[in-house]
Amino acid sequence: MILILLGAPGVGKGTQGVLISKEYGIPQISTGDILRKEVREETELGKKAKVYMDKGELVPDEVIIGMMENRIKDDDCKNGFILDGFPRTVAQAEAFDGMLKKNRLELDKVLLIDVPEEEIVDRLTGRRVCPNCGAVYHIKNNPPKNDNLCDKCGSKLIQRDDDKEDTVRNRLEVYKKSTMPLIDYYTKTGKLIKINGVGSIDEIFSRVKEVLG
Ligand code: AP5
Ligand code: ZN
Repeated sequence: MILILLGAPGVGKGTQGVLISKEYGIPQISTGDILRKEVREETELGKKAKVYMDKGELVPDEVIIGMMENRIKDDDCKNGFILDGFPRTVAQAEAFDGMLKKNRLELDKVLLIDVPEEEIVDRLTGRRVCPNCGAVYHIKNNPPKNDNLCDKCGSKLIQRDDDKEDTVRNRLEVYKKSTMPLIDYYTKTGKLIKINGVGSIDEIFSRVKEVLG
């Protein structure tokens, strides 16, 4: 199964992606996670990407497309994969169509997760992440069992640099301008399914499973 998770920053693409990955046994590929790893390791790509990410702007298409071309060829992708955060521009979507064709693969579904803007701001400013294992929490909606410590590995949780309110607002503007055109793009393929992203994490996962069968 090849799946795209589409939606504004903070609608729960990563949260649902982890659950879908476990349930269906296919990897979740998050371009944001890949880029943050490059930033932490201070690679050339990471240094270049950081400048854009800190401002809430998109990293240039050619960087992302090259990165994804390599990733979907990995062994763990042979039974399918879930894309979280890619494609994010029409140019990326066109390039992804080319990758599918070249590798004789077919896209199954595009899930568009929908959440009102004010709830998004609350979700992102309240998000805390584990710098060690990548687990994602929310100070109110999904808090860790021990104050500010990761349930899985015990590390101290941090706030992502781009989750400050000003940067969040800019990310939402960038989404509207550069990524929203993909709703039209994938509606035309007949593969886009809209999912109401308001409710508990489990409720939304039930909606996702209903759609995926
Ligand atoms: P990326 O990491 O992809 O960020 P994003 O799209 O902004 O998405 P988020 O990770 O912020 O949100 P999410 O939808 O995964 O929500 P989550 O599940 O964490 O990208 C970061 C940057 O990298 C970009 O700005 C750009 O610079 C660059 N980049 C990445 N991909 C790129 C590309 N293709 N092209 C160019 N540049 C690219 O949930 C959010 C919070 O809400 C959490 O705290 C969670 O616990 C909570 N939550 C989740 N579900 C619920 C629920 N049902 N109810 C209440 N709270 C919930
Ligand atoms: Zn952890």
